[in-house]
Amino acid sequence: MKKIGILTGGGDAPGLNGVIKGAYLRIKRDLPNVEMIGLLEGWKGLLEKKYIVLKDEDVKEIHKEGGTILGSSRTNPYKSEETIKKAHQSFKELGLDALIAVGGEDTLGAANKLAKDGFPVVGAPKTIDNDLNVTDYTFGFDTAVNIAMEAIDRLHTTAKSHRRVMVVEIMGRHAGWITLWAGTAGGAHIILLPEETTKLTDIAEFVKKRKEKGELYTLIAVSEGAIFDTGGVSNFVFEDAKVDEFGHVRLGGIAKQLAKYIEEVTGIESRYVVLGHIQRGGSPTAFDRVLSLRFGINVGELVLRKEWGKMVALRGTEIVAVSLEEAVQELKTVPHKIINELKSIL
Ligand code: F6P
Repeated sequence: MKKIGILTGGGDAPGLNGVIKGAYLRIKRDLPNVEMIGLLEGWKGLLEKKYIVLKDEDVKEIHKEGGTILGSSRTNPYKSEETIKKAHQSFKELGLDALIAVGGEDTLGAANKLAKDGFPVVGAPKTIDNDLNVTDYTFGFDTAVNIAMEAIDRLHTTAKSHRRVMVVEIMGRHAGWITLWAGTAGGAHIILLPEETTKLTDIAEFVKKRKEKGELYTLIAVSEGAIFDTGGVSNFVFEDAKVDEFGHVRLGGIAKQLAKYIEEVTGIESRYVVLGHIQRGGSPTAFDRVLSLRFGINVGELVLRKEWGKMVALRGTEIVAVSLEEAVQELKTVPHKIINELKSIL
């Protein structure tokens, strides 16, 4: 092998740099003369043949840094016949003997298609949402949970001082892992997830009852993609009309709507906070640093063994290889058994 590429695609996650470092060092140990290139800004780097040649000094300390030294984008190489042709052509023109794609369902979905089209591609799973099938955890999730938990911890004291309802909106698109984990760890009184449909009237009732019982405030953790039975309440909109290249709508705004509704119905002063991209920024936790380095080392080994069309995954404490096809089949939402277990003591 002469040239190996790596790219990071989709929403960034703390730990992406750890994968780059782990893969680079593991591959260079066995193939010191191989050229490792980093394609810039996800699949855009492949389409436009934009890359940097990675050197030892580029990767030295990067596993401690958030973001990705390669940049990222939500570019979809399988968007049209034209982009597919371009992706295939660029792959050949770059002379890549292997490509490592680090990303979530969209990036890995494209990696799977490229592998099926006969290209030497492997993958490593990334998403703060932790919604990727076949891996127990993805890096970035633990960091996001800790950031959201810390925010909830802080919101308790101000909500209590002002006897308010505080609604905190948490990322996770169609899976409530971050909200359930952070909400539980931070002691939220109500946790609202995309995996369940909650009646708006039940939320208002719960808030009123807490006040009647003498509780001074209520803290609500709501997932950006939480589902509501509005019972005819109009204007309960929380989706942006904009969609990305993979067809995902941009979520956001649910906390504002919910706080407004609660204040109107209960008469209790309510405020909201949208944590947004703070959850994805900054340095990874120790868990995410180690997991990302392990994913990197093991995806490097997949390349050395030429196991194309595969992805590394965490099962218990072991890193295993699974097929990309299996990984991108469906989203991993939170099982109702876990939701019921944790909500049983709310
Ligand atoms: O998929 C990760 C994620 O952070 C989601 O939780 C969130 O809905 C989305 O990305 C935000 O995407 P963007 O960075 O494009 O606004």
